[in-house]
Amino acid sequence: MPKDKKKTRAGKGLKSSYPYYLANAPVAANTDLDVLDKYSGQRATRVALADGAAVRKAIVAGYQAREAMAAFPPDARRDVLEHCVQRFTQRFDELALALCIEAGKPIRDARGEVTRLIDTFRIAAGEATRLGGEVIEMQISPRTRGYRGMTKRVPVGLCGFITPFNFPLNLVAHKVAPAIAAGCPFVLKPSEKTPIGALIIGEILAETELPKGAFSILACSNDDAAQLVEDERVALLSFTGGLVGWDLKARAGRKKVTLELGGNAACIVDDEPGASLDHIVERLVFGAYYQSGQSCISVQRIYAHAAVYDKLRKKLKAAVAKLRMGDPRDESTFIGPMIDEKAAQRVESWIAAARKGGAKRLAGGERSGNMVPATLLEHVPHEADLYRKEAFAPVALMQPFDDFEQALDLVNDSDFGLQAGVFTGRLEHAMRAWDRLEVGGVIVGDVPSFRVDNMPYGGVKQSGLGREGVRYAMDDMTEQRLLVIRDPVG
Ligand code: SIN
Repeated sequence: MPKDKKKTRAGKGLKSSYPYYLANAPVAANTDLDVLDKYSGQRATRVALADGAAVRKAIVAGYQAREAMAAFPPDARRDVLEHCVQRFTQRFDELALALCIEAGKPIRDARGEVTRLIDTFRIAAGEATRLGGEVIEMQISPRTRGYRGMTKRVPVGLCGFITPFNFPLNLVAHKVAPAIAAGCPFVLKPSEKTPIGALIIGEILAETELPKGAFSILACSNDDAAQLVEDERVALLSFTGGLVGWDLKARAGRKKVTLELGGNAACIVDDEPGASLDHIVERLVFGAYYQSGQSCISVQRIYAHAAVYDKLRKKLKAAVAKLRMGDPRDESTFIGPMIDEKAAQRVESWIAAARKGGAKRLAGGERSGNMVPATLLEHVPHEADLYRKEAFAPVALMQPFDDFEQALDLVNDSDFGLQAGVFTGRLEHAMRAWDRLEVGGVIVGDVPSFRVDNMPYGGVKQSGLGREGVRYAMDDMTEQRLLVIRDPVG
């Protein structure tokens, strides 16, 4: 697209500025943050930038709102969440376009994310009235006769949330919706690269009856966001992003911490893969390259049995070479821009280093700005960054194996462990993978990139701590409280 055309349409579909939300109310600050159209590189809009004092006020307001939020009845929490579902549905196209502009997400992927946003809030609306408890049999010896025990779940209190750029709506939803369902006030810092999705969620939450102070959503600097990590009034910190999450945990004091920190997901294609190679190629292309590989469960490593390797390589290479790169607003675009040029340069240098070390490029091409063509490699050295680290880019590597146990070892040869995919038609291999793979989730018959928003989602090893998936996040956002009642005596 010619540069001037890119320029004129940069912010089309967005408001000219967005306020932040402090204690449920919009605030237009003096300082603005420019949000770029990731395809044109032009400023698309501005958002109000919160300073340290505003973050402090948000924490105070959220802390003061904890009792009101805990007392806000479950049916009222459900109604808030259902209101959001309704408003997201009404504003569907606007939300999809916002993602397309601020994240450079191809419009078809953007619509998919809005659909998932709606799913996540709908799941939470259902869970809001299902926070149950347990009756415990206390009479286990003569000493405890006449005692009854029962538990219920109570909200932990104020939650601090920090979210990344790659799913500006649904990864915000995975924190905000369970917090409302569980009765927790929260302060959320969205990615400064993609704050608009979260701010539109704020705008819709401001239409509801949530108790005053129940939510604040503000873009701010990482230095100012440190308060969410360190302030003792914040009872739980939930962070999705890079490995810096482990440093945040070390600074978080006594608060609960959940971390979702990504990975370099692997997918095994067995000698009897249980599906046609054409279908598997279609799924691998989706898993490795959708939204330019900027997903924590993007397929990065493909291990294929020697019996199918050559055929798979040929088909995959042809399919990857055909992927259309370009304007994310174009319905036929599969590969849009990466989030910024720095990220594109990083992966370009990793690809170059791997090739220097002996890797062969099967598909791909030269980077231009933040546009990186879909890239497929083989013979990537195991010590290369492209093999060991999280690429978060439209790049995947292939390697053959001879024996299924060896393939499991290869998947486990990683510091990460979020999800793994296994194409196998053998039940014993599927069960073996479930037993042996060091990951949070094993997906048999599909790529590791598969996620439904009510399933437990999270990783082991460097990939993180805790699980999201609404109900599982609500477990973290609540504590068990025991009641013991002794029958009348005497
Ligand atoms: C992520 O990148 O962690 C989220 C992936 C997803 O929700 O599909």
